[in-house]
Amino acid sequence: MEIIKRPRRLRTNKTIRNMIKETTIDINDLIYPLFVVPGENIKKEIDSLPGVYHYSIDLLVEEVKDVKKLGIPAVLIFGIPSHKDELGSEAYDDNGIVQKAVKAIKSEVSDMVVITDVCMCEYTSHGHCGIIKDDYVDNDETLEYIAKIALSHVKAGADIVAPSDMMDGRIGAIRKLLDKEGFVNIPIMAYSAKYASSFYGPFREAAQSAPQFGDRKSYQMDSSNSNEALREISLDIDEGADIIMVKPALSYLDIVRRAKDNFNIPLAAYNVSGEYSMVKAASKMGWVDEKSIVLEMMTSIKRAGADMIITYFAKDVARWLTIQ
Ligand code: PBG
Repeated sequence: MEIIKRPRRLRTNKTIRNMIKETTIDINDLIYPLFVVPGENIKKEIDSLPGVYHYSIDLLVEEVKDVKKLGIPAVLIFGIPSHKDELGSEAYDDNGIVQKAVKAIKSEVSDMVVITDVCMCEYTSHGHCGIIKDDYVDNDETLEYIAKIALSHVKAGADIVAPSDMMDGRIGAIRKLLDKEGFVNIPIMAYSAKYASSFYGPFREAAQSAPQFGDRKSYQMDSSNSNEALREISLDIDEGADIIMVKPALSYLDIVRRAKDNFNIPLAAYNVSGEYSMVKAASKMGWVDEKSIVLEMMTSIKRAGADMIITYFAKDVARWLTIQ
């Protein structure tokens, strides 16, 4: 007699389901992005990212204390400068917005891992992630600036630098300069497979970093490509990346999985602004249940192979995991 195979046996109650659970989310996997602006006493909600704020440094420090209380180990800092120019000079100014913010956080909150986004698009008048020559982002000249920005963040106290510009050779350029200046123990989290994505829309409003002409397709990756992501990741590892990243997350879980299977190195996935805002909008309309949908998304990012998740939902997830 043919015996019916019954996988449902292991789903009969919650305790058994928990016993066979393959993927869990841990608060230690979460990284919370924060936006810092010039001024004082500012906490202003970002229209395109409900529940996410622009903070002046004084209130940013208070926010980081809250983030720490929730048990989240790391924040990722983005700065909006007081002025922009062709060379994005505030990005590498030792008294720039990010440098001051990092100093303030490091002096007032202990044990918080401060990661800084290393890029130029928030700081350049043209909104591109590098130096423009004849309407083209000049790769090799940009490298010097990117390395200088990373160094100034580290001098301010950053624990990890995360270059998101997608220039060729940037990881090597940063590693070389950091080592030369004695910062041999500062890890680099490389935005290795960063796609030219429409999912960054709400972020560009938040960071005032939309390109003023053209788009980012000559440096960020084409969403059609998967093998190319593996080539990008392997170059970054060769140049000294300590952590690699796939960005965005949800439409690129196949890339996360291939990265996990092919490289034996910590892997982060960036659950980006558009992915956040779509959930916020749909849950506001009552069309989806925010908590269960977000936990399902986080689980799927981890199941695909990510070790860490950068997400605007980090505080909510931390709360939900704690009271579950
Ligand atoms: C800077 C940068 C961007 C994001 C992170 N770093 C925007 C971009 O490349 O245009 C996007 C993050 C998000 O959408 O949440 N280059």
